[in-house]
Amino acid sequence: MSGQDKINWDNRYKNSKVSEMPWYNPDIDSDLEKALKSLNLNSGTFLDLGTGPATQANKLSEKGFRVTGTDISAEAVYLAKQTFENIEFIQDDILDTKLQHKFDYIFDRGCFHVIDIEKRDIYCKNVFHLLNESGLIFLKCFSNKMPENDLEPHRISEADIKKTFNNKFILEDLWHTEFINSNPQQTKALFVILRKNTPL
Ligand SMILES: C[S@@+](CC[C@H](N)C(=O)[O-])C[C@H]1O[C@@H](n2cnc3c(N)ncnc32)[C@H](O)[C@@H]1O
Repeated sequence: MSGQDKINWDNRYKNSKVSEMPWYNPDIDSDLEKALKSLNLNSGTFLDLGTGPATQANKLSEKGFRVTGTDISAEAVYLAKQTFENIEFIQDDILDTKLQHKFDYIFDRGCFHVIDIEKRDIYCKNVFHLLNESGLIFLKCFSNKMPENDLEPHRISEADIKKTFNNKFILEDLWHTEFINSNPQQTKALFVILRKNTPL
């Protein structure tokens, strides 16, 4: 069990303002924006997985996507509903998802890297089932260009991505980047685009 497994997300959302959380970014994530532009995407259904402060869900909705935000934390979902009344938010654990409908796209900014390494296969199986045929995942996570630290999210390498997703997804693109947020020390990140591999 890593330090990540012990995080009580509800307590974090109860005890701090979302705008003071290190991942808070009121703007659309610049890597997601770059990916959407390069693929010329501006409509369809989006799941913002691990939506937290829901700023990304809101920006995607403003761009014209039909967005559902989910989070394991009931408190985060409660706050998101209060802040962005026009967006659907559902409390849901991606490792035991109860979602009934499928999506064209999934954005995961900062959730995959907190998933326990042994549970990555479950994550992969569940996001596969939540996507429509040829659907895309946009995944942003901490990268292994920083040393691993027991108390912080896992550092993910390109090899980790391939190992987790290779059977069910095609790796469309991957680049090294940073998390730009309220944390003055910028965090090295990977941005990954994966396409659901639907057998013919
Ligand atoms: C680092 S925060 C990122 C929040 C948001 N995506 C953003 O970029 O502002 C990670 C989020 O993932 C959520 N989370 C953690 N484990 C989860 C799980 N198993 N299923 C769904 N959400 C989860 C947490 O509650 C938290 O809100």
